Amino acid sequence: MGFEKKILCIGAGYVGGPTMAVIAAKSPQVKVTVVDINEEKIKAWQTDQLPIYEPDLLAVVQKARGKNLFFSTEIEKNINDADIIFVSVNTPTKTFGEGAGKASDLQYIESTARSIIAASNSNKIVVEKSTLPVKTASALEKILNNNDKGLKFEVLSNPEFLAEGSAIRNLEFPDRVLIGSRETESGINARQQLVDIYLNWVPREKIIESNVWSSELSKLTANAFLAQKISSINSISALCEKTGADVGEISKAIGADNRIGNKFLNASIGFGGSCFKKDILNLVYICESLGLIEVAAYWEGVIKINEYQESRFVKRMLASMFNTLAGKKIALFGFAFKANTGDTRETPAYYIARQLLVERANLSITDPKAIPNAKIDLMDFVDNIKFTEDPYEAAKEADAIAVMTEWDLYKTLDYQKLFDSMRKPAFLFDGRNILDHNELMNIGFDVHAIGKSFD
Ligand code: NAD
Ligand code: UGA
Repeated sequence: MGFEKKILCIGAGYVGGPTMAVIAAKSPQVKVTVVDINEEKIKAWQTDQLPIYEPDLLAVVQKARGKNLFFSTEIEKNINDADIIFVSVNTPTKTFGEGAGKASDLQYIESTARSIIAASNSNKIVVEKSTLPVKTASALEKILNNNDKGLKFEVLSNPEFLAEGSAIRNLEFPDRVLIGSRETESGINARQQLVDIYLNWVPREKIIESNVWSSELSKLTANAFLAQKISSINSISALCEKTGADVGEISKAIGADNRIGNKFLNASIGFGGSCFKKDILNLVYICESLGLIEVAAYWEGVIKINEYQESRFVKRMLASMFNTLAGKKIALFGFAFKANTGDTRETPAYYIARQLLVERANLSITDPKAIPNAKIDLMDFVDNIKFTEDPYEAAKEADAIAVMTEWDLYKTLDYQKLFDSMRKPAFLFDGRNILDHNELMNIGFDVHAIGKSFD
């Protein structure tokens, strides 16, 4: 079958894989190929043991794979074949030199641009799918269009707003799709080609077009606003614990105001995930570089409250458990940074586990999907950690259970049975406020939750 268009995605990770699977499943007339330098990942995408866990992803991949969705390590050949190239490589925080610890490390983006010119023999549209600092499109244009083959590349920004654990729903029914381009004739023409692809399943009114800088900066701003909402409610949770107010009741009361909105108001041990911290640090760095010191300090506060929330949780555990955790067994319920994913990047559970180990606690970690990643993250500390998928096994003879991830599974356990198997007094620290605290206290647990006090 002849395809109308050929799309290539460079980077087969949490964004590249699901995004391209949905484009392929919704647009049978388009050929979609996903390439990566990581051979193992590409092999896994070709089997039913996908390299990432994401609800409903396998069914979408199976629908299109082998028909119009392909995974490959042949990067050069596929670059040359493509009309539209999505760049979906990782953009971690820079760890060296100028801007270390804040700026975005753009080496993977630049090397991808250089591979694109080296392998191309025809004009192409290059789409920024990765989250990038505002003005990156200008650097990409300079690298791509400074070629001696007479080729012209149009650079678009099409940031991805999916959240892990709900990626397929977010992609199939997006709140919006944002496409930014240069406001030139060729820029607008390239933008229209991408709009036409999304029109295969996204209603026209949900597709927002803008200039390329607004698009790049909207992505950093969206993540900063979302994380800010969590830090705001987490800061109030500290005040609740001192005053007898209940943060859950406050979230409900303020969330009923449409202007505030009721989402992202769950107080927690802090936000994790590969992007919030990285993207806010990047925003802070950009503001500092442009002399906007007050703006940078404002957004840096969001990160500081998140770190405060993580360390406050450990201090509270320590204070409640008679100021010593040495030799005590603590069961961590969950290790993923949120429910419905096996991803542990920047998970608050990692920071908490490390602090508990500093206090010489023995840990048993349970999680339905994240144990393989948790084992890698904590491989230097294996002597004091046991891993098990069975929460009952994890809690056996433990002094405390600490809920790290809001998996539904933890709401359905037999807490009487867990209590009976633990050492007494049995402590329960609900870092996600997902359990029935009155019921737990009736069983006999010494219960502590975020933004609540039971004294
Ligand atoms: P990831 O690490 O899961 O995937 C990136 C992939 O790119 C890796 O498999 C890596 O091997 C590959 N890669 C790196 N350099 C390459 C090269 N030169 N050629 C071919 N492949 C290369 O990262 P991710 O979570 O998918 O994030 C990718 C981008 O999307 C980041 O900028 C991130 O901020 C953004 N983003 C992520 C999410 C999310 O939920 N994870 C959501 C929205 C946006
Ligand atoms: C987030 C954004 O929600 C996506 O729109 C964005 O595309 C993505 O970052 C990205 O750029 O990578 P994600 O990190 O996958 O998605 O997950 P979220 O649902 O945003 O959760 C992030 C963290 O905040 C998790 O640790 C979660 O447990 C925590 N959280 C979330 C809270 O503590 N309280 C809440 O009310 C909501």
